[in-house]
Amino acid sequence: MKLWQGRIQADTDAQVNSFNTSLPFDQRMYSADITGSMAHAKMLAAQGIITGEDAESILAGLTSILKDIETGVLTFDNDSEDIHMFVEEELTKRIGDPGRRLHTARSRNDQVALDLRLYLLKEEEELIALLRQLIALLAEMAEEHAEVVMPGYTHLQRAQPITFGHHLLAYGEMFLRDLERLQQCMARTKVLPLGSGALAGTTYPIDRHMVAEALGFTAVSRNSLDGVSDRDFAIELAADLSLISMHLSRFSEEIILWCSWEFKFIELDDAFSTGSSIMPQKKNPDVAELVRGKTGRVYGDLMALLTALKGLPLAYNKDMQEDKEAIFDAVDTVKECLKTFTPMLSTIRVLPGNMRKAAAKGFINATDLADYLTKKGMPFRSAYKISGSLVGWCIAHDTVLEDLPLDFLKEQSELFEEDVYEAISLETCVKGRTSYGGPAPDQVKMQAAQLSDRLADL
Ligand code: ARG
Repeated sequence: MKLWQGRIQADTDAQVNSFNTSLPFDQRMYSADITGSMAHAKMLAAQGIITGEDAESILAGLTSILKDIETGVLTFDNDSEDIHMFVEEELTKRIGDPGRRLHTARSRNDQVALDLRLYLLKEEEELIALLRQLIALLAEMAEEHAEVVMPGYTHLQRAQPITFGHHLLAYGEMFLRDLERLQQCMARTKVLPLGSGALAGTTYPIDRHMVAEALGFTAVSRNSLDGVSDRDFAIELAADLSLISMHLSRFSEEIILWCSWEFKFIELDDAFSTGSSIMPQKKNPDVAELVRGKTGRVYGDLMALLTALKGLPLAYNKDMQEDKEAIFDAVDTVKECLKTFTPMLSTIRVLPGNMRKAAAKGFINATDLADYLTKKGMPFRSAYKISGSLVGWCIAHDTVLEDLPLDFLKEQSELFEEDVYEAISLETCVKGRTSYGGPAPDQVKMQAAQLSDRLADL
């Protein structure tokens, strides 16, 4: 017998039951559901809608249910339609009539909207804590590797010299923005939908602000149709998670490249690598590849949510039950990625010698050679041309700019003097890039310290 069996008398078809139920995936919201119900019961009593005695009994019943779920005494193996029905049915089983009064002035529509918000707020806190660990690690590693020269790339072609610390800080900035986005998403999630009823509010003299305050929400939804129909907060979270995944995926791609024999800029710790079943020499970056691969899943979850909502007339429609598996999957996936990625990163071995070698080979001081002439008065475009033709000559003769003799350089321009070698040495090129946000070691150290400070302020 279902709680809603009033108008509908016949038993539901068994296949429909299994198609309709969300208990297998929404059971994880049990604590949010119970917390929400407790706040609701207290408000009902405070407003004289139910008696203080009934509220006491409801609270005691809900407390015992929470405890029994948490200790494994109570399992979700009955055929309840969803977690909300499960808890209410169990409550009524335990305390009788007062249990039947809990759902006064409430609908499952505002209840599920509340539960999902409560549940996701907890998850967002955990995600933020995980991002904090990653950003703190990046700041620490950037400081440590502030002097390590490496080639910076565009088009995956060696471009200009940077430092490894500088490269790491780029990701620090991305993840800090991700963290800010999650905080902003949390602020919009802390809006109480309970009290919207099924769609049109209620005739009972409820106090929505009291419930909001009890649950730590900062506002109450202003329109009852919107209160039960809105899933923006979940979609926004899925979008934020997609951005985190995208950032993790780009970083993973670089880690995969860096630990290949072609680059060998880093070595992964054995604990974070896997071998091949047939090729004995292999040490594979599976963690980074999986993080990269799972990004598609998270994007898929975002698309599932956007698409499920796009054609729905106001207010609640059962399609909205489809929100849960998508957003839960996105949250679970990104949490797992962060929990594995950060420790992997913290154990990499950086190989500065190989980075330095790669930086020396790619003519990444060609811009600096042009700048040298420009600073001596030549227009940049003319200097660019000379530097370019010297690079061409070097490639044809298998040499590098810093090995060209001065009299040869002078044939290209009288402006070349002995100090050119100092000007185009990699160390000079990196150290000179002191513009704000640039890769010079002193800049990187300052930026790393600032990143830690900004993290502490968030
Ligand atoms: N399990 C439902 C969901 O997740 C709860 C809300 C059901 N409301 C309703 N009127 N059928 O969306």
